[in-house]
Formats: sequence, C-alpha cells, structure tokens
Amino acid sequence: MSRADLWNNRYLDKSSAIPSLPQELQASLALLPVGRTLDLACGDGAASLYLAEKGHQVVAVDFAVEGLLRLQGFAAERHLDIETREIDLSATEALEPLDDEFDNIVILRYLPEPSLLQQLSERMKPAARLLIQTFNVEHHRQTGFPERFCLQADALSQALPELSLQAYDNGQLQGSVFDRYLFVAK
Ligand SMILES: C[S@@+](CC[C@H](N)C(=O)[O-])C[C@H]1O[C@@H](n2cnc3c(N)ncnc32)[C@H](O)[C@@H]1O
Repeated sequence: MSRADLWNNRYLDKSSAIPSLPQELQASLALLPVGRTLDLACGDGAASLYLAEKGHQVVAVDFAVEGLLRLQGFAAERHLDIETREIDLSATEALEPLDDEFDNIVILRYLPEPSLLQQLSERMKPAARLLIQTFNVEHHRQTGFPERFCLQADALSQALPELSLQAYDNGQLQGSVFDRYLFVAK
C-alpha cells in the first residue's frame, strides 16, 4: 500500500466531525497577515478552514485525496472557497504545478523534506511569511510517534539561508510537543 493510501484510509475512517486545530497552532496562524496562503500537507483542512474563515485565499495541498475531499466538503458547508491540489510533496519540483507566489506558506504537523524546503522561497512574494510548526522529539517521547518525523532542537534554523528567521520557539523548553519557526522572505 502506498503512503498516500495509508493516509487515505485514515481519512476514510474518520468521523464526519470537522477537524480541530490545537490552540497553540491557531495562535500561530493568527500571527499571519491575511493574504494568499499556501497550506502544505493540509490533511482534511484544520488549518485551511481556520485561515479561510479569517479571510485568507487558501490553496491547500496534500497527497491524500480523501483528506482533500473531506476538506472540500467542510468548506462547502461553510460557504468557503478553498482550492485543493493533490501533490506528493516529496517529489522533485513538487511545487512547480502551483505556478504562483504566496503571502504566506504554512506547514503544520508535517516534517518537510530538504527537497521541499529548497523550493519554498521561489513560491513566496517579497516579505512573505513561512510558518513551520510541527512535532518535536518530546512528541516522540510521549507517544512513540516515529522520531524520524520529529524535529530535533534548532534543526531548521540554518536550513533556509535565503529567508530571514524571525522567530524560533523550542517547544521542549516550553513543555510543548511542537517546535515553531517563522521565516520572512528577504
Ligand atoms: C499529521 S497530518 C497533518 C495535517 C494538517 N497539516 C494538520 O495539521 O491538521 C500529515 C499530512 O501530511 C500528508 N502527507 C504526508 N506525506 C505527504 C507527501 N509526501 N505529500 C503530500 N502530503 C503528505 C498526509 O496525507 C497528512 O494529511
């Protein structure tokens, strides 16, 4: 079974309840100026729906079509317009089909591969924000979630030299299972 189908099955098994976003992640999204926003590894849309409700024009990307279908259903129920794209983010030149630039890119609860990180600045307008907030090794310790999908402390501080790192929060020091990076395009 493909990795996308593993996720598809998880989404097929979920209840019809709208996905909820932890308060900590909502607080990070609230820092972003309203604009054209790309939600990478969007899942069934917890962040995309939150952002669209706040007025962002959202493009939501995932490789699990069942997650995208759930997202579209929730968006339609709320009369929100969210564009969804089925893309494997681990592919070389994964973002090429988007052919667009954004005011914000968000990556929540997904560890971006180096190949994806390298493509992000090309998709950002001047002064655009990039928010990456995902599981740190404390999440691995607490839940057994595979460590290879978790951020080590400070792992991304030097990973995007073409962007300015505006803020880094080491969640482990603050009792959180998330580390947060906010970059700005130069
Ligand atoms: C833990 S969920 C997070 C979903 C969403 N960002 C959130 O915080 O609610 C991880 C998501 O990453 C997606 N994903 C995993 N590998 C991917 C890949 N190579 N390309 C695109 N999406 C991927 C999965 O389908 C899943 O929807």
